Amino acid sequence: MGKTVAFHLQKGGVGKTTISGALACESAHQGFSTLLIDVDPQGNASSWFLKNTPEFELSDVIQGKCFPSDAIVSIPSVKNLYILPTFGIGGTLKNYSETKLAEEPYVLQDLVKEISKDFKHIIMDLSPGLGRLERSALIACDEVVTPMTPEVFSLDGLEIFIDELAKIKKNLRSSVEHSCVVINSYDERIKQHREIFSAADNGNFKVFRIPVDPVFRKSQEAGRAPQDYKDRGRGLKEKTIVALKELDAVIWR
Ligand SMILES: Nc1ncnc2c1ncn2[C@@H]1O[C@H](COP(=O)(O)OP(=O)(O)OP(=O)(O)O)[C@@H](O)[C@H]1O
Ligand SMILES: [Mg+2]
Repeated sequence: MGKTVAFHLQKGGVGKTTISGALACESAHQGFSTLLIDVDPQGNASSWFLKNTPEFELSDVIQGKCFPSDAIVSIPSVKNLYILPTFGIGGTLKNYSETKLAEEPYVLQDLVKEISKDFKHIIMDLSPGLGRLERSALIACDEVVTPMTPEVFSLDGLEIFIDELAKIKKNLRSSVEHSCVVINSYDERIKQHREIFSAADNGNFKVFRIPVDPVFRKSQEAGRAPQDYKDRGRGLKEKTIVALKELDAVIWR
């Protein structure tokens, strides 16, 4: 049985897709059969890794229109990496989550149970917010890791998330673990960033720091793994590589 990890904070633009995609690539590079499930109606993870739109998407699977194996596709540029995609344009995941998901809150949990024998590591990229879709994804996971940006509103967001997650775990009988926080786009030269790190690093969480690194955005534009992308011979910063490896080692421990 593989392990399933989600990256989530209800706040938008904190690096959920960037970190989940980079960690999926890290796991695949290490030889583990890895599945990235795009649970975001925006479909950002899918447009990052897929040039062409496949025949089926996640919402087809959860509505019983096809089997998981019909919708899961391999990512051509990254060996060992597979994706269960969501189409950002014309996709039906948003519509499904607004109309039918209320009656089937365990649909993603059931899906993960069905496919977890086929993958060593499963990573979910979630949409911002804490609505039905995000709640049903969170209870399908063994662990959730919270990415945040080094700003005070993200710190507030973390407090809100901790509170909401406790309610979700109680109401939906989930034992999802939450022990890691990632401060993304961190610059140690900035005093405010160091202060946010100190506030988050209060003994309740393992706190990781991922630097500002332009290679993330460039690799997303190029449809590549950040670890493989080179811009005029220059790839990810050494600090970024180390941070991703540290995070990888902890989440799959
Ligand atoms: N460490 C980083 N250094 C530089 N740019 C980054 C870093 N992390 C993320 N970005 C960039 O910030 C933007 C937002 O990141 P991303 O899309 O991963 O956030 P998100 O939390 O998934 O957003 P949403 O809430 O919309 O799903 C992207 O353009 C991404 O390339
Ligand atoms: Mg995203």
